[in-house]
Amino acid sequence: MPASTVWRLLLLGLLAAAARGDSTFRRFNMSLDAPPSQRWGPILRQYNIPLLKKFLDEIVRSVAPQWAIHVVNQLAPVLTNILPQPYQEEIEGISKILDVNLGDVLLVNFAYEILGYCTSIVAQDTRGIIYHGRNMDFAFSDILRIITVDIQYVKKDQIAYTGTTFLGFVGLWTGQKPNKFSISGNERAKVNWWKTAIAAILKKSPSPSWLIRDTLSEATNYHEALKKLACTPINANVYFILGGVKQNEGTIITRDLNKPVDIWPLKPAEGQWYRVQTNYDHWKSPPSWDDRRTPANRALNYTMQKNINLNTMFKVLSIRPVLNERTVYTTIMCAARSDYKTIIRSGKTNKLDYKKNYTAA
Ligand SMILES: *[C@@H]1O[C@H](CO)[C@@H](O)[C@H](O)[C@H]1NC(C)=O
Ligand SMILES: *[C@@H]1O[C@H](CO)[C@@H](O)[C@H](O)[C@H]1NC(C)=O
Repeated sequence: MPASTVWRLLLLGLLAAAARGDSTFRRFNMSLDAPPSQRWGPILRQYNIPLLKKFLDEIVRSVAPQWAIHVVNQLAPVLTNILPQPYQEEIEGISKILDVNLGDVLLVNFAYEILGYCTSIVAQDTRGIIYHGRNMDFAFSDILRIITVDIQYVKKDQIAYTGTTFLGFVGLWTGQKPNKFSISGNERAKVNWWKTAIAAILKKSPSPSWLIRDTLSEATNYHEALKKLACTPINANVYFILGGVKQNEGTIITRDLNKPVDIWPLKPAEGQWYRVQTNYDHWKSPPSWDDRRTPANRALNYTMQKNINLNTMFKVLSIRPVLNERTVYTTIMCAARSDYKTIIRSGKTNKLDYKKNYTAA
């Protein structure tokens, strides 16, 4: 092992050890009754801040092109008047706690927007219960495994919604409103990502992850959530996967910046009891070098509708290559039962065959 790798592993270990509780995974409450600028303090202060800054910086320098770093830093003072709340104030609060300039926190937030290759599944069992699962795959998975957190957003002593995020990232790519709906987002075609995102932000279009969090916060049922996710202008193309609490409430929304391209609901009456979304439009074939869709479909077929539940959903999300070296976490959700669980993945996969090893008992 080269010395630099050893050193990096040592630092990662220190960052992990700095967090109290379980060494690999943590769940925090965040008070929505507190001013946005103060919400992140209690969470971030549980970590070794200098190390955290080092790793966030590493992510930004690797993900953002030099020109974008320059432009965002130049724009930072103006952006504060453009970014919607509560994101602007939360980002300002984070920059104070980490003692870095606003541009750097914005860049971290943009960097996390560029997702890797993800898999999301929504399914309905024979009793009409909806289950939703997702794998989050990303570069820098070793760092991200340590800084992944579940956050319960608490308002007046009630959990308003729950989400999974990375430290310092104010948006949500995965979340659930208890007894209402669950949402995940997957990346879609990132051509000219930085240019498009910065231009759209200046037009006040939020990032997809901000729209997910807004939807969890504001929509009161599945249909409102569907409308909001489908029609609100955003700053990047994306797939939204939405699960509800009643029969047939599950759909994949394929998004452009300004409109839905396609809406693909469950049709359990026609035997279409699940939908799988990776990072390719569902009406086209995935590329042969990245087909996670066919193995997931096959695993779901072997599972059968009568056996689908959170355990079997987790098993489907654990077959290779649906689970791969870059998978940071798996979240399984059932909004109707307010079940929400995130599991950090090790990066190790083996060639398990779903049929032989995982067919539900
Ligand atoms: C988080 O908030 C919920 C709702 O108010 C509460 O029941 C729970 O005990 C809180 N958890 C922690 C760790 O404070
Ligand atoms: C799964 O089952 C459906 C419905 O029978 C079928 O159309 C599809 O080809 C199957 N997919 C795989 C990958 O086995």
